[in-house]
Amino acid sequence: MSLLTWDETLSVEIDIIDEQHKKLIGMINDLHEAMKERRGHEILSEILDRMVEYTHFHFDTEEKYFDLFHYDHAIEHKHQHHGFVEKVDQFKKDFEQNNADVSIAIMNFLKDWTIHHIQIADKQYVQCFHEHGLE
Ligand SMILES: [Fe+2]
Repeated sequence: MSLLTWDETLSVEIDIIDEQHKKLIGMINDLHEAMKERRGHEILSEILDRMVEYTHFHFDTEEKYFDLFHYDHAIEHKHQHHGFVEKVDQFKKDFEQNNADVSIAIMNFLKDWTIHHIQIADKQYVQCFHEHGLE
């Protein structure tokens, strides 16, 4: 399993969103590295916290624009965000209570979901955002 790399195929052609996606991918990679190096629980927990916090911040940014631009697919898209947040929050709780490890399965889930979400759902809002002048 390799690290994620941001490249043009992941671009939504909106600077603020691309920058956030790059940062999020970097954080997922940090978690992956820490897991591979079998870092301690406390360090993993800190990295996981940062990743979760940034995910919330990033989804809030997208959703703020959905509301502002009256984006057609806002409800489905927010629903996808919500599902991811719930799953990751639950995992974080389990991890903090020592009921779960950062495993390859978890890493695969985070990576696959993020890439798939950017390539499918995020790319759908590009036209709407561009029409409202967000580049
Ligand atoms: Fe999204």
